[in-house]
Amino acid sequence: MENPVDRKEPSNNPQAVIFDDVVQITDEFVVTPWEVRGRVDYDKLLRHFGAKPLTRDEIALLEKYAGEVHPLIRRGFFYAHRDFDVIMKWHGGGRPWALYTGRGPSGPVHIGHMVPWILLKWLSDKFNLEVYFQLTDDEKFFDDPEMRLEEATGWAYENALDVIALGFTPDKLHLIVDTKDIKPLYPIAVKVAKKLTWNTVKATFGFTDSTNIGLIFYPSLQIAVAFLPSELRREAVPVLIPCAIDQDPYFRLARDVADVFGYPKPATLYSKFIMALTGESKMSASNPDSAIYTQDDEKTVRRKIMNAFTGGRPTAEEQRKYGGDPDICPVFHYHMLFDPDDASVEKIRQDCRGGALLCGECKLKLYEKLSKFLKEHRERREKARGKVDDYRISAKLR
Ligand code: TRP
Repeated sequence: MENPVDRKEPSNNPQAVIFDDVVQITDEFVVTPWEVRGRVDYDKLLRHFGAKPLTRDEIALLEKYAGEVHPLIRRGFFYAHRDFDVIMKWHGGGRPWALYTGRGPSGPVHIGHMVPWILLKWLSDKFNLEVYFQLTDDEKFFDDPEMRLEEATGWAYENALDVIALGFTPDKLHLIVDTKDIKPLYPIAVKVAKKLTWNTVKATFGFTDSTNIGLIFYPSLQIAVAFLPSELRREAVPVLIPCAIDQDPYFRLARDVADVFGYPKPATLYSKFIMALTGESKMSASNPDSAIYTQDDEKTVRRKIMNAFTGGRPTAEEQRKYGGDPDICPVFHYHMLFDPDDASVEKIRQDCRGGALLCGECKLKLYEKLSKFLKEHRERREKARGKVDDYRISAKLR
């Protein structure tokens, strides 16, 4: 795809401490590929990264080719992109493309991780696309001083079960466990690495003199997968990368180096973060009660939902009188993410605002939705056990 190299837009927030792409806004919020803190201003983040908001025109293009628009896009959870329009037009011209996303396997998967993968599966089905899914056990090993390598690789296998459980078949899903499947990736990563200077990665990721060199090399591996389909098929096969907005720094660099090797620039589709049950901007691995894990049993799921922060009033009386605030409420947020029926979500919003729906009842409704989703997910997840290797890219390249 021929597109001009993106211009970097400097942040105009005087409070911001900037490591170039890494946003560290004092007293407000922090977003890096490793950390999300504070109440995130998504528009500000977008302007800072220089990605574009997803407009009606782009959504109309998707509708033209997919026949419909997924609720996660319609409801603005996926809200930004780079070249989404370009890849839609590329598709319209009958040319090949693929999907790419990934996960740093640092522990069990929670329902927040699943949300972008649900869209991934939908895109794969609608456009009949192959999916390249990177499990970065190396990254998590480099990043966490306490993490043993075997542990991270173990999590990669466990997490793969959650991805497969979405219904993927081995011809459509290609798993890349970095420490196991490095062979096809390495020649691409070396090329990428040669074009990335210390100066650039330091500025982009906020690395310091005490950052280990594994982490410094790692971006070339995450970027390499974006070019893998082109390399394997020996023709231009651009990827679309659906993921959370915090991964943008990697793909901005990927787009900068693509031209040098004649690879097509990757396109991206960015989501917001999933609210924590505590009401914070993002679920945190360090507080297990802030997230619902796919392996949580029914009782735990129920307890976590019933104890969640809400946008409700302190008493039922006040709630009836003044209504609640769905915009700051994680319980409403999950209704929005997991209920495909627009009318049902809208009714919850209205009834909350008007005071007709109290938090206890709203939480029970959510519990019913999620426990149904999780029950089916757990069954499919167990069926995938023992099959992970069939999905690994190495099994297919032999
Ligand atoms: N760095 C990501 C993480 O820590 C993992 C990852 C690898 C990824 N490749 C990706 C995420 C592509 C999104 C898209 O979770």
